[in-house]
Amino acid sequence: MGKKKSSFSGSLGFVLAAAGSAVGVGNIWRFPYLAAKDGGGVFILVYLALVLTFGFTLLTTDIAIGRRTKLSALDAFGAISKKWDFLGKLTFLVPALIMTYYSVIGGWVTKYAVVFLTGRGADAARDGYFTDFITSGAAPIVFMLVFLAVTAFVVYFGVEKGIERFSRLVMPGLLLLVAGIAVFSLTLRHEAGDGQVRTGLQGLGAYLIPDFTGLTLGGFLKILLDAMSQLFFSLSVSMGIMITYGSYVKDDVNLSRSIGQIEIFDTVVALLAGAMIIPAVYVFSGSEGMAQGPGLMFISLPKVFGAMGGVGQVVGALFFIMVIFAALTSCVSILETLVAGSMAAFRSSRRRTCLVLGALSAGAAIVICLGYNVLYFELPLPNGSVGQLLDVMDYISNSFLMPLISFLTCVFVGWVVKPKWIEEEMESSGHVFTRKKLYYVMIRYITPVMMAVLFFQSTGLWK
Ligand code: PHE
Repeated sequence: MGKKKSSFSGSLGFVLAAAGSAVGVGNIWRFPYLAAKDGGGVFILVYLALVLTFGFTLLTTDIAIGRRTKLSALDAFGAISKKWDFLGKLTFLVPALIMTYYSVIGGWVTKYAVVFLTGRGADAARDGYFTDFITSGAAPIVFMLVFLAVTAFVVYFGVEKGIERFSRLVMPGLLLLVAGIAVFSLTLRHEAGDGQVRTGLQGLGAYLIPDFTGLTLGGFLKILLDAMSQLFFSLSVSMGIMITYGSYVKDDVNLSRSIGQIEIFDTVVALLAGAMIIPAVYVFSGSEGMAQGPGLMFISLPKVFGAMGGVGQVVGALFFIMVIFAALTSCVSILETLVAGSMAAFRSSRRRTCLVLGALSAGAAIVICLGYNVLYFELPLPNGSVGQLLDVMDYISNSFLMPLISFLTCVFVGWVVKPKWIEEEMESSGHVFTRKKLYYVMIRYITPVMMAVLFFQSTGLWK
């Protein structure tokens, strides 16, 4: 192995890889069900405002830290200030925790794609199908292993030949698929049992038109917090991933422009995913169907595909293939962050590290799969939900650690190293740091306060 630091070939490769990390099941499954639950247009307006402010701030911070230190998350904070080395270690915990379960969800998606591809989509529409599958012994483990093997394969080939090449191939295809299925969704019409005809365009209205009637301050705050936690997860910020990817960006790349493009890509895919899923669910199951929550992708959607008849098999297969793409590029970014950190810590080669971490992740993911049968329990979580192993990992990483890390990062960058340090990096290539004033206000005042609120809210310390 040469001494040369791995890097993306240029700005486009970086943007597509970072968008690949950002666009995942969060966009396709979580965003639509939150939008449906939180009054459609109102949620969307709030979310857009947050992307342009908080999303921009956190993404800029991560990427600039990465490019300036040229280190992965594990070491970046310590290299800036010895006292803050703990923040790098804490940040590294998030991808480690997410890695244990993301490939399990990837396995579920793979299973559904196979079911639709083999023309057995009608099975998936049956009541109880999803629960039967995840609680069964071997199948979820086998599908998870297949998904994880592909992830490790991509990471094994490195930053440019593996991750960048894979993202260049997959991301444009994903965009086309999500746009194509969204257009198809709008053309749907269906006559319900009571003779009422519902169309895709009406569903689009239910999704996009904000409904402010009956909205209370408390209700609005709830929407705000839902949108905020969605934003974190969706942009893959505050978990070291964007620091690691930032460390692979060449010095002459215009960071402001790339960051804008990543924000747009991630948001457009989320909006299109909503335009694809919500009208379809509305047409076949009415407004009640839209309030399904987490069961939307694995339980309601297969029923929608089933109700479409023959064409539903094809659309269902395309849909789940698209979700596999989205989930793979995200899982790749998680594994890459772990590999990059461990390569530096143990001074080991990429290939060796990738194999060892791939095997460890497989072991952990098997335990998570067993959480639905042998190791089943029901643990009430501080945020009010009840969870199994997978939900517990998700809770610790997303609801507990991520707001905490963002808060600490804002304090560190805003008050210890000072935002000027980020500004210098943003302008080092000779380009302007657009939205600079906004960045200063956000990183010092608004984001830390909001992160503290989010932390207290999701840990149940404040209701
Ligand atoms: N951002 C990804 C999504 O929207 C999820 C993700 C989480 C990716 C954590 C990497 C790390 O689904």
